[in-house]
Amino acid sequence: MKILENKRELDELLAKIRTNGTKIGLIPTMGSIHNGHLSLVENSMKENFFSITSIFVNPTQFNDLKDFKKYPQNKKQDIEKLNTVKCDAVFFPQIEELYPEGIKRKKTISKYRDILCDKFRPGHFDGVTTVVKSLFDIVTPDAVFFGEKDFQQLKIIKELIKKNNLPIQLIDCPSVRSKNGMSLSSRYNNFNTNQEILFNQISLKVNNCVNLLKKQIDINNLKNLNQYLEEDKKIKVDYLEVRDDDELLLTQKNKNARLFISFYIEDIRIIDNFKLY
Ligand code: PAF
Repeated sequence: MKILENKRELDELLAKIRTNGTKIGLIPTMGSIHNGHLSLVENSMKENFFSITSIFVNPTQFNDLKDFKKYPQNKKQDIEKLNTVKCDAVFFPQIEELYPEGIKRKKTISKYRDILCDKFRPGHFDGVTTVVKSLFDIVTPDAVFFGEKDFQQLKIIKELIKKNNLPIQLIDCPSVRSKNGMSLSSRYNNFNTNQEILFNQISLKVNNCVNLLKKQIDINNLKNLNQYLEEDKKIKVDYLEVRDDDELLLTQKNKNARLFISFYIEDIRIIDNFKLY
């Protein structure tokens, strides 16, 4: 696997591989690579893209400096993990390469906003779209791979591609879940033992709620889960809602519906979504 430490090294590689018409697949990440990321790489490799995983912890998408500083990072382990799936290259962009005009975020996408994560993390998606657009400009991928765990992000990035008329195919990939049924997330590396035990207990309730909602969307199931979560002082719920996956509108019908959930266990934020059809 090629290890690219800056844009110059990326440009040199791109110039070589573009000559024979090879297509580029980009997997943007913030590192702390887990099996969810690896499945995105595998999808890209399967489609015969020259697969580049980018790793950059993007400051402009954090609402809180403390959260940014403690975002888990492990470059050596990330490289080892990406090697196991034979990823072609890993790219570590420099901050000034992604933010040539200074470290600030721009609001360019208004669709799918003011709801779900955007309501609780104002500006977060502006940080995401700013860095993702910059990555797209630098890497010029033919395809990009995003996971459904961050479903609202996926919708917003689709809009970003559409609005800018970018010749990029977005391939969305299903969440990879751990044994407890919850989608994998880099943030869970920060759990201590007690938080992990609590997370596993909560996951049983969440899965139970999902199974009930799959039969019929009854608002009482959401209320019960919400009540169970809020009874614990270590937990704070941001949202627990059923929305359709086309427009992200609230719905009480199962067609195209998903349960969207976000809560904190102390200072660790958990987000997930579950198909209800
Ligand atoms: O999903 C993520 O890991 C990040 O939001 C992304 C897309 C890499 C942008 O920093």
